[in-house]
Amino acid sequence: MTEFAERNPDLSMQALADLAAQHFGRGGECRPLPSERDQNARLSSGGQDFVLKLANPAEAPGQIDLQNATLQHLARLDLPRLPRIVPTLAGRDRAVVEVGGRPAILRLVTWVEGVPLARTERTLPQLENLGRFMGELTRALQGFGHPQAFRPDFAWSLDHVLQLGTHADDIVDAGRRALVKRLFSRYEAQVLPRLPGLRASVLHQDANDWNVITDAADPARIAGLIDFGDMCHGRTVNELAITLAYALLDMPDLYAATRAVVTGFARSFSLTEAEAELVFDLMRMRLVASVCISSHQSKLHPENDYLLISQAPAFALLERLDQIDPAFMVALCRKAAGFEAVPGALALAEELADRPMRPVLASDPRRAARIALPTDGSRADMPAFSDRAFDAWIAEKRPSGLPADVPFLGFGLYGEKRSVYTAAQFADAASAERRTRHLGIDIFAPAGTAVHAPLDGVVESVTYNADPLDYGHTLVLRHATRAGRPFFTLYGHLGGSLPGLCQPGQTIRAGDLIAHFGDWHENGGWAPHLHLQVISSLLTQSGNFFGVGHDSLWDVWADISPDANLLLRLEPESFRIDPEPPEQLLARRRQVIGPSLSVSYREKLKIVRGRGAWLCDHTGRRYLDTVNNITHVGHCHPHVVQALARQAAELNTNTRYLHDAMPRLAERLAASMPGDLRVVYFVNSGTEANELALRIARTALGKTDTVVLDWGYHGNSGGTVAISPYKFKRKGGFPQPDFVQIASFPDPYRGPHRGPDSGPAYAADIDRCLDAVTARTGSGAATFIAESLSGVGGQVVLPKGYLAGVYARIRARGGLCIADEVQCGFGRVGPAFWGFATQGVTPDIVVLGKPIGNGHPLAAVVTTPELAARFANGMEYFNSFGGNPVSMAVGNAVLDVIETEALAARAAATGDGLMQGFRDLAGRHALIGDVRGMGLFLGVELVTDRDSRLPATGAAEHVVDQLRLRGVLASTDGPDDNVLKIKPPLVFGPEEAAILLAETDAALFTLSN
Ligand SMILES: Cc1ncc(COP(=O)(O)O)c(C=O)c1O
Repeated sequence: MTEFAERNPDLSMQALADLAAQHFGRGGECRPLPSERDQNARLSSGGQDFVLKLANPAEAPGQIDLQNATLQHLARLDLPRLPRIVPTLAGRDRAVVEVGGRPAILRLVTWVEGVPLARTERTLPQLENLGRFMGELTRALQGFGHPQAFRPDFAWSLDHVLQLGTHADDIVDAGRRALVKRLFSRYEAQVLPRLPGLRASVLHQDANDWNVITDAADPARIAGLIDFGDMCHGRTVNELAITLAYALLDMPDLYAATRAVVTGFARSFSLTEAEAELVFDLMRMRLVASVCISSHQSKLHPENDYLLISQAPAFALLERLDQIDPAFMVALCRKAAGFEAVPGALALAEELADRPMRPVLASDPRRAARIALPTDGSRADMPAFSDRAFDAWIAEKRPSGLPADVPFLGFGLYGEKRSVYTAAQFADAASAERRTRHLGIDIFAPAGTAVHAPLDGVVESVTYNADPLDYGHTLVLRHATRAGRPFFTLYGHLGGSLPGLCQPGQTIRAGDLIAHFGDWHENGGWAPHLHLQVISSLLTQSGNFFGVGHDSLWDVWADISPDANLLLRLEPESFRIDPEPPEQLLARRRQVIGPSLSVSYREKLKIVRGRGAWLCDHTGRRYLDTVNNITHVGHCHPHVVQALARQAAELNTNTRYLHDAMPRLAERLAASMPGDLRVVYFVNSGTEANELALRIARTALGKTDTVVLDWGYHGNSGGTVAISPYKFKRKGGFPQPDFVQIASFPDPYRGPHRGPDSGPAYAADIDRCLDAVTARTGSGAATFIAESLSGVGGQVVLPKGYLAGVYARIRARGGLCIADEVQCGFGRVGPAFWGFATQGVTPDIVVLGKPIGNGHPLAAVVTTPELAARFANGMEYFNSFGGNPVSMAVGNAVLDVIETEALAARAAATGDGLMQGFRDLAGRHALIGDVRGMGLFLGVELVTDRDSRLPATGAAEHVVDQLRLRGVLASTDGPDDNVLKIKPPLVFGPEEAAILLAETDAALFTLSN
C-alpha cells in the first residue's frame, strides 16, 4: 500500500526456485504470490511450504532488518501463528542476490497455513478473535524496539497522518473531499493534542483481510498474520485502529463489528481509557490516510483505474460513519474496552440515587393512582401510544371513585423494547437495527399537566422537534453533580407553553414550573405524556436526543441514559402488571384463612413493600402510613433488617444456652425503667406478655381477681380476651367473668367527668371495683391492668392524676399494678419514653410489645426482683421462641435506632405540629370535636355536633375511605369508631405531617360539600 515508485522484481519461478536451492538448500517448486512491491513466491520443498521473498531492490536494507528482528523477537516469545525466518545455508537471515544488475535481498520464511480472512464470510466471533489475536501480538511487541522502526516520513505512519493533509486536495469528489478535510480538522483539534499521553510501541500496521489468515477448518479462528512490511513505531492503539479500519469495511453492522474487535483486543491487551476514547477517530484517520494516498496516486497515475476503485469501500465506510454520532462510537469503544461508556456514569447514577429530588409533577407521582403501561402485549386491549384511541382507553381506566384532584398516571418503562419505533428515523447508517429500547420513562397524564424541575439546573435547549413521532416541544436542562460534572435531563412531548417558560441559559430552581404536557398536535403525535430522560452525555447532539437505543447496545445506552427513575423514584411495581391483584388474592385467602381475621377497607389493599412511614401497593402506589405503631422506627429500617438478617444467618436457638444478646437487651430495657423494675422476660407477642404479667401478679397475690378499664384491650388469647371489655362486651362476646371488675373509662372528653383534671374523679371508681372484689373473695387484693394511654378506647390521654389515684387505691388493698405499654411505649409519647411516666407512676409490672420488634414477633414483661422471685415457685418457665438470639438482635437494633435517631424527641416535635395542624383544621371543620394526644399518639374525634358530642361514626368512616383514595392510610378507634387514630412510625416527620393534614382537610371538605 506504500507509495513505492520502483517496479516489483520479476524473476521467473524457475529462477526463484534455483535461488532457493542455492541459498537455503531447499529445492522445490515455486508458485507466484501477490506482492505490492516485492516478488513473493510459495515454495514447496520436501513436503513443506515456505514463502520466498525477493525484496524490491529499492527497499532499504534497514526495513528488512526491522522485519527480521521483529519476527525473531516474536519467535523467541514463541508466539505461534506467525512466519518464522528460515536461515540461509550460511546461517544468515537473508541472502543478497542480483536483480537487474542491482543487489536485492532474498529471504525465506515459513508458510502460515490457512485461508485469508478475505476469503471467508465475516462473523462477529471471528472479528472478536481477530481483535484478540492482534492484542496478543501487541502485547508481545511491548518492550521490543528497533532503530529502523522510527519512520516519521512513512506515509502509513498513523502518528504522522497529518503529512497526508495536502493529498486531501487530490480527492476528486467535493463532498468526500470536504468530509476528509473535516476529519483532519477534528483530528487536529481533538486527537493530536492527546497523542503525547498515549503508549507507543512497534506496530505491524497492516492487519488487512489478505494478511490475516484464518483456520481452514474453523474460519472464526485466526490462524496467523503475515506481511510485516508496513511496520513502524507508533501509538500502540494504532494497531487496533488499523485492524478495526479493515474489519469494518463492508460490514453491515458497524456497531457490532466495532464492539467485537475492540472487545477481543482489550481482552488480550488492556487499553487505557484515553486509548479507548481515541481508537474510533484513529480508525477513521487510517481510512483517511488510505483514501488520501490512493487519491494522490491516482492523480499521479490517472491511467490506473484500480486506484480509485480500490478506495471505494473506504469512502463508503467513512460516509456511513459520518452519519452517526462519533461520540456514540467513542462511548461504544469505551464500553467494549471494559470502561463505562461515559466517564462517571456510574458515579452519576449513584449520586442521583441519594440526592434530594423534587417531584416532577405538582403532585408527587409516587403518591398518584396509576396504571403500568407495558407495550409487550400484556395489555391486549391497549391502543398504541400513537393511536388516538389511547386517550379514551386510559380515561376509562381511571378508578371511578378517585377524587378529581388525585392524579391518575400511566407509566411507560425505561429499558422497554418497543415495537412502535419502526420508522426509518429509528435506524441509522451504521446498522439496520432499529433503536427500540426506551431510554426514558413515560408519564401519561392529561395535556396541560404541569411539569416541574426535579433539580436545580440551567436551560440547555428549548426546541421544537417537528418530525412525526419525534418529541414535539423539547426541553433539555443542564445540571451538575456535586463534583461539578455536567449531566442533563430531557423533557419531551411538551406543550406550546415551553418557549414562554424556559429560555436557553435560564437558571432553573428545583421545583420550578418548566413546562406542560403537550397535546397530540404539538407533541410529535402521541397521546399526551411526558418523556423524561437522564443523560450523562449529550454526545454531539443538541436540542434533541435519542429517546430509544439499540437493544444490542443497551449496556452502552444505559450508561449514556441511566434510568430516569433515579429522578422519579417510583416503586418497581409502577411498571408491572400484578398477576394476582387484590380481588383475586382475597378470594384465594378466603379459601384458606379464617373469616374472623379481617382485612381493612372495602377495596382491599395488597401491600408489597414498606420504607419509613410509607407503604407501597401492588401497583407501586405509595401510601402514607399513619396508623402502624408496630413498625415503630419505620418500615424495614435497614439497621433492624441487617441485625435480623445477620443474626438469622449466624444462630437462632432457644434460651437454654447462654447468648450475649439477651442480657444486653434486658439491661437496656431495665435501664429505661424507674424504681425496681429490673427483671425482664422475653416473649413473642403483647398477648403473651399480658398473659405472663397476669400469671406473675396472680401467682404473687394468690388470686385471679383483676380490675380492668372499660374498653380496654389486652390481647387475643382466652386469658386476655377475658380481661378485655373491648372484646367480651361486643359482638361475639360473653358475660363479664366474675373475677373481672370493669372500672369506668376515664375519657375526659366524652365520659361522665370532663376535662384534664377529671383524673381523681375517675380514680374514685376503683373503690367500687375493689369493694366488689372484697365481696367476692374476702379481700380487695387484685391485679389492676390498664394501658397508660388508651388506644382502642379512642386514643384517650388519661386525665391528670388518674393512674396515681388508681395505683394508690389498688396498693392500699394489697394489689398489684400492670402497665400495658404495648401501644404507647418506646418514646411514642415523647421523651417520657414510657406512657406510665406521663402519669407519674411506677407500675409493678410493665408489658412491652409491638414497637419493641418493629414488626418482628417480640414482646417483654418487666417486673421487680421481688415479684420475679415469688413467680419462681418451682414451676419452670420455658418459652420456645421468647428471647431467641434473632429476636434479641432485633430488639437491640430497635433501641439503637430510637437512640441514634432521637426518635422520641422527634415524635414529640412532629406530634406537637400535628396537634396544632388538626386544631387549625378544627377551625374549618365543625366535625372535629376534639384533638388530643401526646407525641405521635393522637386522636381526632369527629362529632355531629360539638355541643351534644354525638359521635360522627359514618363521617369518620367516610374520611378514612377518602384518605385511602387520597393515598393516606388511616383508621378509627373508640367505642363508636369515630376517632381518627394517628400513631405512625416515629420516623413520620414534618413532610409527612403536612401531607396528612392536607389530605385530611380535603377529605373533610368532601363531607361539607
Ligand atoms: C394495648 C394492647 N395490649 C396488648 C395487645 C396484644 O398484642 P399482640 O397483638 O402483640 O398479641 C394489643 C394489640 O393490639 C394492644 O393494643
